This record gives sequence, C-alpha cells and structure tokens, in this order.
Amino acid sequence: MANTVIIGAQWGDEGKGKIVDMLSAQSRVIVRFQGGNNAGHTIRVQDRETILHLIPSGILHEGTVCLVGNGVVLDPHVFLEEVDSLSAKNIDVSPARLGISKKAHLILPYHKSLDKAREAKRAGQKIGTTGRGIGPCYEDKAARVGLRAGDLTRPDLVRAKITHALLEKNVLLRDLYKFEPLDPAAVSEELLALAPRLTPYLTDVEEHIAQARRNGDNVLFEGAQGVHLDIDHGTYPFVTSSNTVAGNAAAGSGVGPGALERVVGIAKAYTTRVGAGPFPTELLDDTGSYLRTQGHEFGATTGRPRRCGWLDAVVLRESVRLNNLTDLALTKLDVLQNLPALHICVAYEYEGQRFSHMPQEEGLLEKVTPIYEEMPGFEEDISQCSTYDALPGAARAYISRVEELTGVRVSLVSVGADRQQTIVR
Ligand code: GDP
Ligand code: IMO
Ligand code: MG
Repeated sequence: MANTVIIGAQWGDEGKGKIVDMLSAQSRVIVRFQGGNNAGHTIRVQDRETILHLIPSGILHEGTVCLVGNGVVLDPHVFLEEVDSLSAKNIDVSPARLGISKKAHLILPYHKSLDKAREAKRAGQKIGTTGRGIGPCYEDKAARVGLRAGDLTRPDLVRAKITHALLEKNVLLRDLYKFEPLDPAAVSEELLALAPRLTPYLTDVEEHIAQARRNGDNVLFEGAQGVHLDIDHGTYPFVTSSNTVAGNAAAGSGVGPGALERVVGIAKAYTTRVGAGPFPTELLDDTGSYLRTQGHEFGATTGRPRRCGWLDAVVLRESVRLNNLTDLALTKLDVLQNLPALHICVAYEYEGQRFSHMPQEEGLLEKVTPIYEEMPGFEEDISQCSTYDALPGAARAYISRVEELTGVRVSLVSVGADRQQTIVR
C-alpha cells in the first residue's frame, strides 16, 4: 500500500474512522493532521463500538504507532479521557505507540468559553459549531499567542502565556459576552496538573514519519471533517477553522507533499451535514427522515441529528479537483436499501442557467436548485455482500454512475458499520 491520505469528501461523518481502521492493518504509522475533538470517528469491530475524537483511528491495531500532528488542536482533558477509556478496553495507549507533536496547539478553557459565547451572540446566524473551542484555538495560533503541547515542560511559560491571553479574553468574556471571566492562576494550575501525564507523549512526529518512510513502512494520514468544511475551500463562513483538504496532510504533520502518494476521498452514498450552512440536496421530507433513521444519522460528537439528502456529484467533483483524489470509498450503501428510486445531483440550476461546478461567491450555493438524475433502487439486503459481483445490479449501476460523474474509481464500498463489511475492489 502507498502512503495514503484519507479525507472526507463531503461535510464530515463520511465513515473516515471505519476506513482508517481498516487500512491501518497495512500501515505502520497513522497520523491526525488537523482539527481537534470536533471530530468523532467511529469504529465497529464485532459489535464493539469505539468513538475517537483525537487519537488516530489506527489505535485498535497492535503494532501501529499513532500520532497527533502539529496541525491538530488538542484538548488535554479530552486526550487523557480517551487514553483512559481505551486503556480500560485493554488497548495499549502507552507513549511507545502514541505520541503528540510538541508543536500542536492546546485548547484551553477560554477557547471553549469564547466558542460558546460567540455562537450565543450570533443570533440567527449561528454556524452550529461543536462548541469545543476549535475556532478560538486556531485564532490564537494564527495570532501567535497560542500555547503548544511542548510548552507543558515549562511551567513559567505556561503561566505567562495564559496570563497574557486572559488579559484580552476576560475583557471579551465579561464585558462583551457577559460570560464568567477566568482566573489565570486557576487555568494555569489546572493545566499544569495534567502535565505529568501528558509530557511522556510529547514526541518528534516528523522523525517518526521520516523513519517509517526510510524503513519502507506505510504511513496513513487521517483527515477530520470534510472538504466542504475547509476554512478556504468550504462553504465559508459555515466551515471549521482548519484546512481539511489533503494538501494539509503535509503541513499538518511535517512532511513534504511528495510523501502523499494516494488520496482517498470518503463519501457516503448519500449526503449529510451537521450544523448550519448551504446543502443543495437536503431532503426535508420523509426520504430525509428515512435516511436519518436507517443511517443512524446522529452526531458522534454532539449527538445532534444530521441533516440528510441525496448524493451530490457536484460536491464530489469539487472534492476530486481540490484534492487530486486517486480513489473514492463509498460508504453506507446499505442505507439506500428499499428506496424505490435513487437520485444523484449532477448539476445545479441558478437563474435559468446550468452549472456543473460549485459557485465560489458567498451566499450563492443556498440559492441553487439541484438537477437530479433518477436511478432504480434495490430491495436486497447488501450488508453481507463481500464482493462487488455479489451486489445487486442496481447498486452496481449506482456505483458506476458515481465513477462516471466524478472521473474517479470507487475502490472501496462499505455496506455496514463493521470492519468486515467492506468490499475492496
Ligand atoms: P467519520 O467522522 O467520517 O469517521 O464518520 P462517523 O463515525 O462520524 O459517522 C459514520 C457512522 O456511520 C458511524 O456510526 C459508523 O459506524 C457508520 N458507518 C460507517 N460505514 C458504514 C456503512 O457502510 N454502513 C452503515 N450502515 N454504517 C456505517
Ligand atoms: P468528523 O471528523 C461533521 C462542523 C460543525 C459546524 C462546523 C464548525 O467527525 O467528520 P467547529 O466546532 O469545527 O468550529 O464547527 O463544522 N463539524 C463537523 N461536522 N463532522 C465533523 O467531524 C465535524 N467537525 C466540525 O457541526 O457546522
Ligand atoms: Mg464524525
């Protein structure tokens, strides 16, 4: 297997965790390169479900090394909770196989307060963030006032940075947002109390990756969120605060772009979105509810119901273009069972004109009307199909049409949540 980047090709929750877990069987190093615990990546192995927010989804495979790269924003509490919950399931989460980049920025209590305060204030214009402090933490990184994981070995630096940050944040929290201000000493000491457990995980992520490459071992780069939540290329401002595109696997983990050999876009056989923002193929009718129920479309991080709709090939084509996708993995095909007809959006209409690309102007995607192609549905239960040929003709025709519309091969088809329920072509 080549060094592979896994990214979500839609608006997140495409099943990245499942596919990363599966491909980890052939990888030595798995690295998260952006986002934080806004992500919720689900893995199911024989009825045992594991949801990971920060630790890479390769952790269930013994013999892998799992790394949190510099591009990630890390909530120290969440990381340790995850370590504890995996440890309770007898999974080795020792620093021998789990590491955090010293350059990864830390999410602090004021980031979470500001995230919630801003959302509360954005009456009628909410982004619907996960409230995990992701945006404010990336803001501090860009403003060059952030705390990094490597700072945990220097208590005086931690105290000084937090005190400095709160000079500004407390004005915002108290005076503008009418939230509780935070005490710098309390915030500092709370963080420093975690340092003895966190510092053993600090590592040189770049060197681990370089070593794996020298040894000819495979590296798997695990994306979070999805292409259309990208801070630059997504449906701005209804996006997350990091670059979710494959190119950021290089910057977010400390390798050159030449190390990214294969880029697999994960796409659901339909579309979902959590939070606010344009979604041309959204279904507010019974079919939307059917997809939500059949697909258990409730957020793995916040539990919110996910908005559901038909597959949008315009969205996928844009993902192919922005990431040079080498293949697509189509997940949750089983969820489409028993729908009398399937629809794929092939283009948009706006003011009487047909568009085959997503508009780049803010506010326009809300206004387009999807142009659909109808395809026959299938009634057969496909959840036990283990080969492509075992799939009903209508399911195969649907996959072929996705390949035609995107120009990319569908190399993996997922027909159930379990690790085993995957067809590799
Ligand atoms: P991620 O954020 O991209 O890792 O995806 P999530 O874990 O948030 O959401 C995907 C959900 O779909 C999880 O509950 C998975 O267990 C489930 N899932 C993944 N692949 C399939 C599939 O092929 N069929 C079904 N029915 N469920 C799947
Ligand atoms: P995974 O990795 C789906 C969405 C939020 C919100 C927007 C901004 O599981 O696919 P943020 O908290 O990041 O500032 O919220 O992005 N969002 C996700 N939606 N899956 C995710 O991650 C998401 N992470 C963030 O719902 O609309
Ligand atoms: Mg998710």
